[in-house]
Amino acid sequence: MVSEPIISFRDAAKVFPGGRRRPEVRAVDGVTLDIAAGEIFGVIGYSGAGKSTLVRLINALERTTSGAVVVGGTDLTGLGEARLREVRAGIGMIFQQFNLLASRTVAGNVAYPLEVARWPRGEREARVRELLDFVGIADKADTYPAQLSGGQKQRVGIARALATNPRILLADEATSALDPETTREVLRLLQRVNRELGITVVIITHEMDVVRYCCDRVAVMEHGKVVETGAAYEIFSRPQAAVTRRFVATSLRDRPSDETLARLRERHPGRLVVVGIDEVTGSTRAITQVLRDRGVEPAVVYGGITEVANKPYGSLTFELAGSDDAVAAAVAHLRAVTDVDDLGTARAPRTVPSLAAGRAEATPGRDAREVPGTSGERRPGGGPTGGPTGLVEGND
Ligand SMILES: Nc1ncnc2c1ncn2[C@@H]1O[C@H](COP(=O)(O)OP(=O)(O)OP(=O)(O)O)[C@@H](O)[C@H]1O
Ligand SMILES: [Mg+2]
Repeated sequence: MVSEPIISFRDAAKVFPGGRRRPEVRAVDGVTLDIAAGEIFGVIGYSGAGKSTLVRLINALERTTSGAVVVGGTDLTGLGEARLREVRAGIGMIFQQFNLLASRTVAGNVAYPLEVARWPRGEREARVRELLDFVGIADKADTYPAQLSGGQKQRVGIARALATNPRILLADEATSALDPETTREVLRLLQRVNRELGITVVIITHEMDVVRYCCDRVAVMEHGKVVETGAAYEIFSRPQAAVTRRFVATSLRDRPSDETLARLRERHPGRLVVVGIDEVTGSTRAITQVLRDRGVEPAVVYGGITEVANKPYGSLTFELAGSDDAVAAAVAHLRAVTDVDDLGTARAPRTVPSLAAGRAEATPGRDAREVPGTSGERRPGGGPTGGPTGLVEGND
């Protein structure tokens, strides 16, 4: 990753003035943030957090109320329309609703920004062909948007956004209207845009799975502020803010919620421990070996291991069988290599704050392995999300 920031927010704020009955809204509230050239940067937050306003500051669709936004070395504050147009020419954008022109064919949509930029016809046609090839819909050139699937429409949106060779691509909820499979295809395409074309990609989302799948770094927004920033893997493995822990929980769903834990205790009266699986522990082999060497027999009763930023991550809940001393020694040993939450036994349960406060609280009744759709609770992302791969509950 190149260290030079291509986008810098410096104490940037955007305040929408109130009216007679409405209070003012601090949509972006003192954000300081650097996005490096060449990275895929995610901005995640719940609805109303200020994500769209934040990205709209990058291409000056909104102007800062105070502070500054610097793009490619140019401070946008107070810049005139002519200079802004130059900056905007280096930024492509795609949207949740695709925003295609219904009266134009696929090729016509992709050609549109080239016409605006006054490219000669011959070059335009060659460029459109090249772009449609890149996004994999060359065969749809003469089709109208209404005849395309959502995934195909977003490919057109991406081709159009790339037409004039931008250095930055902004994607505002670009996959939120798509099913999980199509979401992955579009995210893979955005990865190619980043890796093969060297374009910096900023992805706005409220789905932690999107971050998990393709972002290098991520900023978490709440009430207009960035509450946490870091490498995607760090954010997943050590979420600090409560809102971040909720997002992580909805994506991984690897730890039992309070309700699930109650059921687990009925079925598994022995000692339950949640053991973190990460890059270091890697697989369960070393963990089970540590336990068995100390005379403790483990059974997996819940959990999941998935990938975050291409590295293994998750947790497994074990029921441990063995003498109290053996279990205590084995748990102490495991703690030296990974996170271990001791949940106690059915008779002597222990409360683990990290389960109750962050992760479990976020998904009451919405655990991957509970009956889906029984709760009216809103899940961030709204749509179905992939659960962890690997192990599931019920080794009994
Ligand atoms: N033009 C505007 N005038 C007044 N208030 C606005 C305007 N645009 C956004 N807001 C307010 O600013 C806040 C942040 O909105 P924004 O659209 O940036 O959030 P978001 O994180 O993108 O949400 P979502 O996930 O729903 O798209 C909200 O309270 C919103 O109502
Ligand atoms: Mg938005």
